[in-house]
Amino acid sequence: MNVSELEVRLGELADQAVAELAQVARKEDAIQVKNRYLGKKGVVQELMQVLPSLAHEDKRIAGQASNQCKSAIEQAYEGQLARLERDELARRMESERIDVTLPARRPPVRSGHPLRQVEEELIDIFAEMGFDVAEGPEIESDFYNFEALNFPPDHPARDMQDTFMLDDGRLLRTHTSPVQIRTMLGYAPPLRVISPGRVYRVDSDITHSPVFHQIEGLLVDTNVTFADLKGTLAHFAERCFGPGTPVRFRPSFFPFTEPSAEVDIGCIFCACKGCRVCSNTGWLEVLGSGMVDPNVFDAVGIDSKKYTGFAFGLGVERIAMLKLGINDIRLFFENDLRFLRQF
Ligand code: DAH
Repeated sequence: MNVSELEVRLGELADQAVAELAQVARKEDAIQVKNRYLGKKGVVQELMQVLPSLAHEDKRIAGQASNQCKSAIEQAYEGQLARLERDELARRMESERIDVTLPARRPPVRSGHPLRQVEEELIDIFAEMGFDVAEGPEIESDFYNFEALNFPPDHPARDMQDTFMLDDGRLLRTHTSPVQIRTMLGYAPPLRVISPGRVYRVDSDITHSPVFHQIEGLLVDTNVTFADLKGTLAHFAERCFGPGTPVRFRPSFFPFTEPSAEVDIGCIFCACKGCRVCSNTGWLEVLGSGMVDPNVFDAVGIDSKKYTGFAFGLGVERIAMLKLGINDIRLFFENDLRFLRQF
């Protein structure tokens, strides 16, 4: 092949490649075409193998012709890529057009967890009666959770509350009663507080959860009697479960109260007639209560000759289950939106 033939051939190849590039619809195809012509083993390279056999002056001409051919193909390649990108963008602008007339999605309306709703309702009832809210830590020492509450070491009453112990000897509080101690150590009577919060016990079934919520009540003043306790809780029952809800006090035992009483309300499902929920007794147990034991006053340095008081403790889950008609305590903690959205 002489140099003029080579020039013609290079010109043809360039035209051919430019025409092919103009046809491709995808970036990958453009790359392929370019490589077929300009690659290391491409057609142009192959053609240029004649170069060593050419005369010196012809080599220069052949080199120029080959460069022209290459840059024509490269230019066509770049041009086609740019075109493809433009087309792609135009296509996306068309198909992904934003419909500004579409109404915005509303954020879900927050209503609060059912337990929190009930807890707030209960706090409001006691706030109306002049109780302040006091809070305490969930990690407690034996002193606050047991000892100062008149649980002697090794006393079987401690076994009533299966306790999560920490390695350092502290524990997860088993009830909110330790806040009674913290309040009495921190403030002088008269006192009137409730303490809502989380408590922990090694216990789990459809009515027990290892973490649950209580509201503690404590009132300390001169001349406080069991009648005050009774009146307070009777009023609470009516505010919480509706006017005319009867209450019943049953003798019980708690180390930190003497006397102690378990408080029942008349069954709200059968009007005290007896049904499955109240096991045919007509009554539902809702809280524990009693007069503050003088030993507790001694432990916190309050003069039990001068002051008396009452205390009570209620389970928020228990009350929420009764008020909302929920039969499995675990539903509160599973975070299933199908459940939570109902409240
Ligand atoms: N702390 C008790 C418990 O968790 C409940 C309780 C009973 C609290 C009687 C009191 C009370 O303040 O007087 O089982």
